[in-house]
Amino acid sequence: MDAQTTFIVGIALVAVLLVAAVLSVAVKRGPDAGPVRGSFDRRAARADRAARRAAARGAAAAAGDQPEPAVVVHADTQEEAVPIADPLMERETISAEEYGVNRRMFFNRAILGFFGASLGFFGLASLAFLWPKLKGGFGTPVSAGNIDDLRAEVIQSDGTIKPKPIPAAQAWIVPFRGDVSKSILADVADTVIVGVGAEPGIMAIWHRCPHLGCRVPECLPSQGFECPCHGSKYNLHGEYIEGPAPRNMDRFRVTLDAENNLIIDTGTIIETSRAPVKSVPYPQGPSCL
Ligand code: FES
Repeated sequence: MDAQTTFIVGIALVAVLLVAAVLSVAVKRGPDAGPVRGSFDRRAARADRAARRAAARGAAAAAGDQPEPAVVVHADTQEEAVPIADPLMERETISAEEYGVNRRMFFNRAILGFFGASLGFFGLASLAFLWPKLKGGFGTPVSAGNIDDLRAEVIQSDGTIKPKPIPAAQAWIVPFRGDVSKSILADVADTVIVGVGAEPGIMAIWHRCPHLGCRVPECLPSQGFECPCHGSKYNLHGEYIEGPAPRNMDRFRVTLDAENNLIIDTGTIIETSRAPVKSVPYPQGPSCL
């Protein structure tokens, strides 16, 4: 899953979490949970009770005595029945289940939902950041194209070399002329695809300067690479010539796939120390710096 897909999935998940949070606070009770009672019902009942009490006090004051509870005598038995209480004068107790969701509960749940969704989004973003890239991009194998086409592109008709940049791999493709076994690469495996017969080999050089990391451009007149930051210079094989750089330009491990495409393994960076004997001359013309 690439970062863009993970981001879209994360957004969708956050949206689902938000909808679930809103629904959980909006749907208070089922249809068979009895009459709905809320803060409005309680206030109305309280107002009714207060009005009843005021009316009763007014009637008692008009009669000059305290109101007596009503006494009911049963017509057949002449026994006093238990006084019937006025339902509006009784205290009404409402359970939490009957009361449903009040404002405080709503905000508590909304805040919990918000922080839950934020945590989920942060977790997904962290996962996307740490997830190893499975395909494409620097740090993974990058195809630079058919090796015969590359060879034809970098070697000009007049015999000069024009390094080919591969931006996705941050690499320069250059030919390797000479005997690998006699170069600084002798003890480094898989840095050159050796040519057949008189064909030059092909290798991929990291365009990052080993001094402080500037991108090192090619210099066609001198047939080499020259760093504009502090002046380090390298020949066409990336071998150190002069300047503050501590070593040669770094190389990538290279292989060929079944279709003869050059595969640059940008996850495998190979460092080599300054070569005492250079495998290709430099400069072959004026410097670019
Ligand atoms: S970064 Fe290239 S010479 Fe300093």
